[in-house]
Amino acid sequence: MKTNKNGKPEKRETFSTSLAVFFATLGSAVGLGNIWKFPYMTGMNGGGAFILVYLFFVLLIGIPIMLSEFYLGRKTRSNVVGVFDKLKASRFWKLIGYFGLLSAMLIMFFYSTVAGWVYSYVFKALRGDFRSLSSMGLAEAKAAAEKAFETTAGGTYEPMVWQFVAVFVVAAILLGGVKKGIERVTKTLMPLLLTLIVICAVRALTLSGAGEGVAFLMKADFSKLSAASVLAAMGLAFFKLSLGMGTMVTYGSYFNKENNLIGTSFQVAISDTLVSLLAGLAVFPVVFTFNLAPEGGPGLLFATIPLVFSLLPLGNLLLVLFFLLTAIAATTAMISMVEVPVVIFMEELKVPRKKAVLLITGLMFVIGVLTTHPQSLFGGVTIAGKSLFDLFDYLSSNILMPLGGLLITLFVAYFVKKNELIREMTNNGHLKTAGLVTLLQFVLKFVTPLLLIIVFLNALGILKL
Ligand code: PFF
Repeated sequence: MKTNKNGKPEKRETFSTSLAVFFATLGSAVGLGNIWKFPYMTGMNGGGAFILVYLFFVLLIGIPIMLSEFYLGRKTRSNVVGVFDKLKASRFWKLIGYFGLLSAMLIMFFYSTVAGWVYSYVFKALRGDFRSLSSMGLAEAKAAAEKAFETTAGGTYEPMVWQFVAVFVVAAILLGGVKKGIERVTKTLMPLLLTLIVICAVRALTLSGAGEGVAFLMKADFSKLSAASVLAAMGLAFFKLSLGMGTMVTYGSYFNKENNLIGTSFQVAISDTLVSLLAGLAVFPVVFTFNLAPEGGPGLLFATIPLVFSLLPLGNLLLVLFFLLTAIAATTAMISMVEVPVVIFMEELKVPRKKAVLLITGLMFVIGVLTTHPQSLFGGVTIAGKSLFDLFDYLSSNILMPLGGLLITLFVAYFVKKNELIREMTNNGHLKTAGLVTLLQFVLKFVTPLLLIIVFLNALGILKL
């Protein structure tokens, strides 16, 4: 065990207040998932119906798994591999930790690429690169905006440099540790992010296409839903709430004893969903006002937002704010992702924080650069028709995180005694939520695992619904 200079065991850091817990956890949840993935996936899967399915999964899978992760983390004050030693569970369960490690790496490879695009757009918007769009005709401006995205994402050095910047910022924050790094940054930046997203959504709602955009989000057309889109909605719920890979175990291990776990999980899930909807409200009115295709795919954010905002009064300022908020979201999410392997290395392999952070971010950057850019060494490789970028995304969101989530659910449902769960969740009886914990245990035993298995089998074509 590490000791401080008086020879006493060194205390593990925790967040200082419940507000700090809330902002850090929300910082993990809110990310590119809300602003980049949510709008384009909703666009591709038919709008409101997809959102309803997504909300169903947040309630019956997302919140129960988040609570299970909080429980494991705060109870054991350990990383996601060490948890199972502390609970004297069989070695099998450590698989959860190893899956988590793998997911964190896979996500970082492509996530930091997209974060790099976002950082570069902040810079380009500040430099006024998109101003010229406003003096062009719509078709010409559209082509120019698409071209700008192609250069950003498809260039040889540019995407690499910006990816480096994004990873570097994450490393710098994590070197500060839990209080001086994660807590300080999320407490300062999350309120700013929330303010900015409200400004952008309000501005978009004053456009002429606002009605159509809102209708697209709210109208439930179930005919557009396939097994694949249901699996995608479930994957999005995992990705959005950073679940099934130990991120919430890790953050839970920094919660203080007074924190209300159930309250925090609902606050985070609700706030995160609101941010996704606000992002949808900021993007779709814009899409419809300018007759663009809502199912535009991953480029939706990068090609349409600059185009449209540049046409509005004070548009350039709005553009800077929008990409700034996206950069904040991406950064606070990445720090939670990278913290998972960092703490595993620190506690299981006794590597000091500084070394662990540099090693892991270095690895993420190098492998990310080699695999996720079209021009890079393995950029052209496809497996089963998917680029490595898409494959990493698919494997983490649709396979590893749900699988990790299933194992976490089963562990907490069947290996933790009811009284023990109640004691931890009610903070030793201080909170009057024992009834809710009983309900939670029922959901964890029967509803969540069943749903996960059905969605899996259905998507694999083994079960036809
Ligand atoms: N929740 C983040 C988002 O929606 O962008 C993504 C994420 C963060 C996934 C942290 C996993 C993770 F550990």
